[in-house]
Amino acid sequence: MSFKNKLNTSKIPRHVAVIMDGNGRWAARHGNERIFGHEQGVEAVRSTVEGAGEIGIQYLTLYAFSTENWARPQDEVQALMGLLVYAIEAETENLQKSNVRLGVIGDTDKLPEEVRKKLFECIDTLRHNTGLTLILALSYSSKWEILEATRKIALAVAENKISPAEIDLERFEANLSTAGIPDPELLIRTSGEYRLSNFMLWQVAYAELYFTEKLWPDFRKEDLFEAVVDFQNRERRFGLTSEQIVS
Ligand code: IPE
Ligand code: IPE
Ligand code: MG
Repeated sequence: MSFKNKLNTSKIPRHVAVIMDGNGRWAARHGNERIFGHEQGVEAVRSTVEGAGEIGIQYLTLYAFSTENWARPQDEVQALMGLLVYAIEAETENLQKSNVRLGVIGDTDKLPEEVRKKLFECIDTLRHNTGLTLILALSYSSKWEILEATRKIALAVAENKISPAEIDLERFEANLSTAGIPDPELLIRTSGEYRLSNFMLWQVAYAELYFTEKLWPDFRKEDLFEAVVDFQNRERRFGLTSEQIVS
């Protein structure tokens, strides 16, 4: 039986986030350059986005490029940026047909002009769609985001717009790049690494973490469904006791 049939359709997570890792190792195992792994990763993205839409996930965030990834060899960085432009162009029509909306989180000012242009054009084209919201984390890191939020709030205090006592959870979250987006309930990381690599540290405070040995280019929607089934079999307690949750 496929994992799709095992899903409890009344308990689909609203927001799933994915750390797409293992492209380089996938390429090496196939005797190829790292960029070949990134190229193959596009098919995994396509399948995952399709699967998320099929089962009614509302938000899917994909960690595609971290702040730290800028320090990789420049030919790899350039190839990744080129691949982004290509993938956005190639996929916009498909995303439109699937009623997908696109968003981005991260320090997009650091992206090459062409990437930024294509990205915001695509976001604009898809802005009226009402299905899945696909969020790309690009030039993103959680520490960057938290620092940015802190700066914005400090400025508001310095300008006497708010008092320090008014800095609460709500105000803090409103200054994160994920403002208005519910926290991910499920975080998936591929490639057998057990770390967060500076991704959504604030937002995953109570997320269920799911790790798989699969390398990203091999990941397909069936793997997403498997992760969601696993998620559905967990008891989320949020600090309470099991008895409190059951009643
Ligand atoms: C993930 O795959 C993609 C990016 C971080 C851009 P990697 O490129 O990190 O692949 P591995 O982890 O080296 O195998
Ligand atoms: C995390 O993968 C970032 C993305 C998937 C975009 P990395 O490959 O950069 O993470 P580390 O270096 O193994 O922690
Ligand atoms: Mg990696």
